[in-house]
Amino acid sequence: MRRLKRELKQTMELYSSACKEAKTAKQKAMELQRWKAEEQKKLLEEPQTTSEAPPNMEVEQEKKRSEALQKLVALEAQKKKSADRKNSDATTFGSARYRRYTIEEIEEATNMFSDSLKIGEGGYGPVYRSELDCTQVAIKVLKPDAAQGREQFQQEVEVLSCIRHPNMVLLLGACPEYGCLVYEYMANGSLDDCLFRRGSRPPLPWQLRFQIAAEIATGLLFLHQTKPEPLVHRDLKPGNILLDRNYVSKISDVGLARLVPPSVADSVTQYRMTSTAGTFCYIDPEYQQTGMLGIKSDIYSLGIMLLQIITAKPPMGLTHHVGRAIEKGTFAQMLDHAVHDWPVEHALHFAKLSLQCAEMRKKDRPDLGKVVLPELNKLRAFAEENMPPMMMFGLASAANGYPSRNSNSPINSAFSSSTQDTTESNSLSGFSGYESRSSTSSNSLGRM
Ligand SMILES: Nc1ncnc2c1ncn2[C@@H]1O[C@H](COP(=O)(O)OP(=O)(O)O)[C@@H](O)[C@H]1O
Ligand SMILES: [Mg+2]
Repeated sequence: MRRLKRELKQTMELYSSACKEAKTAKQKAMELQRWKAEEQKKLLEEPQTTSEAPPNMEVEQEKKRSEALQKLVALEAQKKKSADRKNSDATTFGSARYRRYTIEEIEEATNMFSDSLKIGEGGYGPVYRSELDCTQVAIKVLKPDAAQGREQFQQEVEVLSCIRHPNMVLLLGACPEYGCLVYEYMANGSLDDCLFRRGSRPPLPWQLRFQIAAEIATGLLFLHQTKPEPLVHRDLKPGNILLDRNYVSKISDVGLARLVPPSVADSVTQYRMTSTAGTFCYIDPEYQQTGMLGIKSDIYSLGIMLLQIITAKPPMGLTHHVGRAIEKGTFAQMLDHAVHDWPVEHALHFAKLSLQCAEMRKKDRPDLGKVVLPELNKLRAFAEENMPPMMMFGLASAANGYPSRNSNSPINSAFSSSTQDTTESNSLSGFSGYESRSSTSSNSLGRM
């Protein structure tokens, strides 16, 4: 009982304190209510005391806001206008960049891809000689699988068709839907054909070889200076240097390696490795090891090709053979025997430069613009100073029925159409068979 009484007392005490708390809470709530009412009253009173200012400020602010909005709208309109202009420029310019041919036009020009018009076949497909728009052209038909990814093909062709340089084979047009590329026709075929004298060609005089080397380096430097990104050729070799009717050399297949999807590119490499033993030799060893491709990869290929220009030897082991010959003092024996008047000292300088280009490590290869081209230009100048009159003034060509050469300007050489294949009738010795070609260097002697 006593315990029960104590518990009851405690409960009652708890109850009374709870009641007290409830009372104070109620009081606080009432106070808060009152404060709130006062605040509301104050708020209602305030606008009356400052009734004049706000409308003015609001009007001012509204004015400013609408002005800003107007400016913004005008700016947006301006932006849209210039973007539209840019777009329309791009589309009109884009479509004008290269001539689009229909497959029917290509079929007609190649006589339904007739074998009789076929002038060669590389890793990318057959090449046909034909005429389009009254101009001699070479049509390269990419293998069907290589022409996959039409959009990419089209995009790339648009880039390539913008590259114009006197030492680059001109892409005249394309039929992007079927992966056909139309190039200016290069009457004297490839440097490979000339060096290895296919079709009983006369040997290239050393003066021409020095000129060709400087021209290739000039074209390559132009390619490497492409903005915003340098263009790496990836497939430099004598087969990709073409000579026009005046023996002006031009780099061909620029960026073509990029048009082929990787799976096909692999098979192309395989194809090349097996069918044309040698192409493999032009590939930068550091690129092969690391997969890092750069402009210096082209310098390696250039080095091998330069060595071939003076030796007319296959590329396999060429750096080793030339290097050894220089060490042993037997370099003169390495020079192409078809030429009898080599300036050996200058050729040795040429060979040493080529060997530097073909160094195993990228960082050991010289800079194209700062070292290689200036040196080759000096050699070209020397060649031009020692040009026999027959080569300078085209006496031999005139005597042999070659069309006379008036100018070496890019426009003339790029669009000149030769109905005569000069390579077919050439079985002459010495300088005969080679037309005069005007110089591109400052101390030109042969300009006509
Ligand atoms: N624009 C061209 N003018 C004349 N002949 C060309 C032209 N393009 C290519 N050729 C000829 O077709 C051959 C094959 O060319 P291509 O398909 O580029 O193969 P590759 O580069 O592997 O030699 C060349 O060696 C050359 O004789
Ligand atoms: Mg080629």
